[in-house]
Amino acid sequence: MIENPNIPEAVRAVAADGTQLRYALMEMAREMEDIITLGRGDPDLPTPAHIVEAAKRAMRDGLTGATDVRGMEPLREAIAEHMRAVNGLALGSDNVMVSTGGQEGLFLAVQAVINPGDEIIVPDPRYTSYDDAIKRAGGRMVMVPTTREDAFNLRPEAVEAAIGPASKALLIVTPSNPTAGIVTEERLRAIAEVVIRHNLIVIVDEIYGKVVYPPWRHFSIGSLPGMAERTITLDAFSKAYAMTGWRCGYVAAPADVIDAMARIKQVTTGPVATVSQWAGLAAITGPQDCVGEYLDIYIARRQVLLEGLDRMGFAYGEPRGGLFVWADSSSTGIHAAELSYLLLKEGRVLIFPGTAFGEKWRDYVRITMLEPIETLRAAVERMLPVLERYRM
Ligand SMILES: Cc1ncc(COP(=O)(O)O)c(C=O)c1O
Repeated sequence: MIENPNIPEAVRAVAADGTQLRYALMEMAREMEDIITLGRGDPDLPTPAHIVEAAKRAMRDGLTGATDVRGMEPLREAIAEHMRAVNGLALGSDNVMVSTGGQEGLFLAVQAVINPGDEIIVPDPRYTSYDDAIKRAGGRMVMVPTTREDAFNLRPEAVEAAIGPASKALLIVTPSNPTAGIVTEERLRAIAEVVIRHNLIVIVDEIYGKVVYPPWRHFSIGSLPGMAERTITLDAFSKAYAMTGWRCGYVAAPADVIDAMARIKQVTTGPVATVSQWAGLAAITGPQDCVGEYLDIYIARRQVLLEGLDRMGFAYGEPRGGLFVWADSSSTGIHAAELSYLLLKEGRVLIFPGTAFGEKWRDYVRITMLEPIETLRAAVERMLPVLERYRM
């Protein structure tokens, strides 16, 4: 916990809840002027023009009626085709549901699979929206630690050690938010053997799967033999195509899981906005150059941030994918939540403390690369003197 009484109550009160802590810091930043925000992971780049055009065309042509709750057939077909070709998953449109962003996909997947009392094995640190979804389903999380020494890869032995009689599922996020590590193909093959042996379901969040830094490559566990029937793969247009606000994502899963999710979606959000589905269709079937162009931009930004971290004396695992760096701030001697608060108040830079992604990560911070290079450089210059002032 944070003991420093100088930290405002609004931050201290939610320090133990990752999601709330992120929102409290963002709220403070909104009330301040001239802040560089390297907190939230939403791409700053524009949605590519051909995708915007497709949405405009759909509106002009009156293609705005509601669709099947699982999404319109041409989009589900296109997603199935894309996942067959790119991810190696053997599936048809009955195995696909279009979701209101990745966030709804993950929530529905957890509700469909987890019953009260079930355990789900979760990597630590983690995107804590899963904590919220799992709690609502009455499930219990069992953590599998990942480490900087291992570039935050997931260890099959550690997964197996976490399995008990109540284990129902394993959650994988690759590339990982917040660590920017990936689970390599070799490890995924070994993990697949473990989950088949113990008859577990896998929920794999691949929302950053197209944002992987060469020579690293994304690999889908659902493509392995014996995995299609037990894997729920989540993805969304938000990150790779800079489409966060369009609220369009997708889930690939066995048809009975899709049906269970659709029953909840029917009585909550209903089908995804039709215009966004047409935009998604253009994203997935149109030219893919934009994905590579954006990746090149992130590669250049990542370099600037890593150089900044070197100057700050922060250690880090190699960021292999995703839109952030996850850095060890222990050299400052300051609890990460307090450090983030000081950097916001005195440096006017918003970053997230590690504890926003798991209670034990008090020596880590997550910094996003979702600002132009010049702004990232300016953020580093703002942070350095604050660190000098408070370093213990
Ligand atoms: C790992 C992960 N999954 C899902 C989401 C939700 O994405 P969306 O904006 O598509 O709802 C995010 C958003 O940051 C994320 O980091």
